[in-house]
This record gives sequence, structure tokens and C-alpha cells, in this order.
Amino acid sequence: MNSLEKFPEKFITDLKTIINPRDFITDEEQINPRLTDWVGYADGKSSLMLTPRNTQEVSSILKLCNNYKIPIVPQGGNTGSVAGAIPNGEIILNMTKMNSIREINPKDYTVTVDAGCILEKVHELAIKSNRFFPLSIGSQGTCTIGGNISTNAGGISVLKYGNMRDLVLGLEVVLPNGEIWNGLRRLRKDNTGYALKHIFMGAEGTLGIITGACLRLFPEIREKTTAFASLRDLDSCIELLELLRSEAGDSLSSYELIPGIGLGIAITYGDKIIEPLSKRYEWNVIIEFSGTKNDGDTKLNLENALNKAIENGIILDATIANSLKQAASIWKIRKAIVEYQPRLGGEIKHDVAVPISNVPEFIKEANDAVRKVIPHIRPVAYGHIGDGNVHYNVCPPLQYDNIKFKEKTEEIHKVVYDVAFKFGGSFAAEHGVGVVKKNEMIRYKSDTEINLMRLIKLSIDQNQIMNPGKLFDN
Ligand code: FAD
Ligand code: MLT
Ligand code: ZN
Repeated sequence: MNSLEKFPEKFITDLKTIINPRDFITDEEQINPRLTDWVGYADGKSSLMLTPRNTQEVSSILKLCNNYKIPIVPQGGNTGSVAGAIPNGEIILNMTKMNSIREINPKDYTVTVDAGCILEKVHELAIKSNRFFPLSIGSQGTCTIGGNISTNAGGISVLKYGNMRDLVLGLEVVLPNGEIWNGLRRLRKDNTGYALKHIFMGAEGTLGIITGACLRLFPEIREKTTAFASLRDLDSCIELLELLRSEAGDSLSSYELIPGIGLGIAITYGDKIIEPLSKRYEWNVIIEFSGTKNDGDTKLNLENALNKAIENGIILDATIANSLKQAASIWKIRKAIVEYQPRLGGEIKHDVAVPISNVPEFIKEANDAVRKVIPHIRPVAYGHIGDGNVHYNVCPPLQYDNIKFKEKTEEIHKVVYDVAFKFGGSFAAEHGVGVVKKNEMIRYKSDTEINLMRLIKLSIDQNQIMNPGKLFDN
């Protein structure tokens, strides 16, 4: 069967009048990389990918799809972690060719971009205008602004600047019926009824296509100091955070937990990663101070704060990077944990948030809980603890059967999320729900919340053409 035969002939003919032939893609070689995700959760299918070049084309495509009730899956860089952009037979609407910078306005500290712009391009552009765009995540060379907004991405600077949601001033969205909502305002204040932009942020493509965004910029960062410190114990991560905040306030821009096992992964499997301290400790943090002046203050303040922490017995040892190269090699440890953790025989991932002060208790109780399911299981809890977000991943015990480990996935998920829930936490801190966490939506969200979400979905997307089967089942 021709790959397009499942679609009405007239639909395809009309589609071809809307979109240029080079953006109407049926070639498997181009589509196949768009059908799987990097985590290995999904094995998607689709016979057609559309790559629109402007908002008007997106609008015409959605209008046509809506008329024929033909569903679509929005996709940006396809770096998401919960299979939210993976089609299950639907048309892929890939946004990466809509990648222009529309306007940068340094006086207003704003930049307006197409949704398919790569995050790193926005960073580079901001720097050229002596400005700074703070969203910082490992996938920034590939992920798009539309994807960042749709997942409300987090990353390593949330404790200072907030999530993606906090960095968006205005949006342009194409609604499922093709109508274009131009909400591209550059305002910091706009109390004019419901804040509609927030409905589309974190919606994971279930309510419309984000085609453009006006983003907040910040004063240029001229100085950064990075340190790696070993903690007395897990509890002291909160004491150290308090001390850093009271010593340096706003200049604390990253605070990431690095467990000894994670450091071991980085050193064993990463590319020429150097042991940062003379001895390996069970719990460590990467700390970054940043500032808008180039006067050596970030280094001085961090040195003073770490000296105090050593005097108070909060940390046992620390090293401060003396060059950009040394700072990069500290951050390489953090990146390598994500990349190489599966080498410990597989991983079961959790992206959990709890109130910041509960992070140590959460980790300890989650450790107890997963060890009851599989004795000697190896937790690798790392991540953005400065904002309460723990990537609580677990690896199998040494020599453990891989299939047996995978079979325990649901049970492990349940005990970990139950502990997070007990602390008033979230089962999906920054990666979203996608298809991977739909069961958790039902288990942990109240009926009131789910019903409100469904009401919003149905009032905007009556024909349910937008990213079906994501967040919850239609
Ligand atoms: P995609 O994966 O293509 O799509 C994600 C979701 O958004 C899907 O539901 C899709 O349907 C929807 N979507 C995409 N574009 C649009 C649009 N224009 N309109 C409407 N809906 C749309 N995430 C974090 O939050 N913090 C991290 O620290 C982090 N680190 C990462 C590190 C690595 C190495 C990798 C590979 C991923 C990491 N991620 C992280 C996850 C991921 O990069 C983010 O979720 C990112 O925001 C996804 O952007 P994307 O363009 O790739 O979106
Ligand atoms: C990170 O913080 O590096 C990522 O969110 C980890 C991940 O995507 O699993
Ligand atoms: Zn993360």
C-alpha cells in the first residue's frame, strides 16, 4: 500500500497546494530519525512529515487537518524525554524550518523568534547584543524554543531565573482550527484577564502549535566561577545551599548534586574526565556563581563562602576552577552522568521535584523503597537540587539480569513517585508527561485537576487532532 493511501485523496491534494513539495516529506530516510526518542521509550510510526516555513502555512495545514479530523504531532528538535513528540501513525508537523530571529530589542531586553529556533542560536544572538538568555540544558544545540516552551523546560539555572515559562513574555499560537492567536506582546505587566499564554506552555503540543515567542533577556553575564565541593553528608546539601544564598544571594546561578557513583560513571566512561578532588566522596555539588561585572567578585565570594562551609564542617573539600577550561571540565562530569549512566546495565529514570528542604529525606526514603524492590539496586540521584529537582535514576545491581530489571520498571516507578508524592512533590518536574507518565497523571492528580485539563483540551481542540494520546488518553 502506498504510504499515503490511508489519507483521503482530496486531503493530500489540498495539502500539496499549501506546502512546498520539499516540505512534504514521505522519504523514510528523513522520517525514520524522527520516530524514535533518545531515551529509547518510543518506537513511533508515521508516513508523512510536514516542515512548514511560516505561520501562515501552519495555519492552513491545521485548518485542513481539522476539517478532515486528521491528527498531527508537533515536533521540534525531538530531544524530549517522555516521547511527547513521537507519532503513532499521525502526521509529524516538524517546526525546525521555522527558525528565524524575528526581532531583537536590547532596550526592552526582549527577543522575538520563530518557534523552531534552536536554543543555542538564541544564546548566541543574545550575547552579540550584550544580553543573556538563561535557559541552559544539555540538549541546547538541538532543542527548539517551541519545544522548550511546550515542555516548560528547566535545566541548571532555574534557581536564579525560573523555568522556560518564566522567560516567555508573549506567544504566537496557531489553534487547532487554523486560527492564529497573536499574543506576541513584549510586556512585563499585562493583567487583562486569563493569562492565555500559560495554557499553551507545558501543554506538550496538545492545544495548538506555538509558532513564535517573545522571550525575556537579562544583562550580559561577564563573569562566572564554578566549583566542585564534597559534602559532609547528604543533609549538608541544604545547609550549604542556605549558606551560599546568604553569602552571595543572587549570584548563585547553579547548584547541582553529583553523587559519588555518578562521578565514577563520568570518570570511567567519559572522555578524559579528571577526578576533581584528591579523594572521591559520596555526595558532591557543582556550584556556579555568575555576575554582570567583571571584577573578580564571583570568585572572591565563592572562595569566602566555601571557606566558611569548610570551617562549619558542611563540606569536606572543594576545588574552584581557575580557568574556563577547568570550569568546562567540571561541567563535563555533569553531562557525562546523563550520557553514560545506561552503561551500568540500564537505567530506570525519574524526574522528580520536592520542596527544596526535603531533597535529602526524599533521596534517603526513595533509596530504602527501591532497595525493597531490588536489593543492591544502584540509585544515581543527581541534578538540579537548587530548585528541588532530582533526577532519581536507578541502575541494576552488578551482574543483574537486564530483562528482570526492566520488568521491575513499573514497581520501581510507583515506589519512587509515592515517596515524592508523600513530600508534596511532582512525578514530572521538568521533562513533562508525554506518553511515558500518563498513568502517573491518573494516579497522582486529583479528578478536579484532570477534569479541568480535559475541559480546556476539549474547548480548544474539539476534534482532538493535536498530539493525541499525550498527557492523557483522548
Ligand atoms: P521535542 O522533543 O521535539 O518536543 C517536546 C514536546 O513539545 C512534544 O510534546 C511536542 O509535541 C511539543 N512541541 C515541540 N514543538 C512544539 C511547537 N512548536 N508547538 C507546540 N508543541 C510543540 N529538559 C529539561 O527540562 N531540563 C534539562 O536539563 C534537560 N536536559 C536534557 C539533556 C539532554 C542531553 C537531552 C537529550 C534532553 C534534555 N532535556 C532537558 C529534555 C529536552 O531537551 C527538553 O524537553 C526540550 O525542551 C525539548 O525541546 P525539543 O525542541 O527537542 O522538543
Ligand atoms: C539533565 O538535567 O541533564 C537532564 O534533564 C537529564 C535527562 O534528561 O535525563
Ligand atoms: Zn534536568
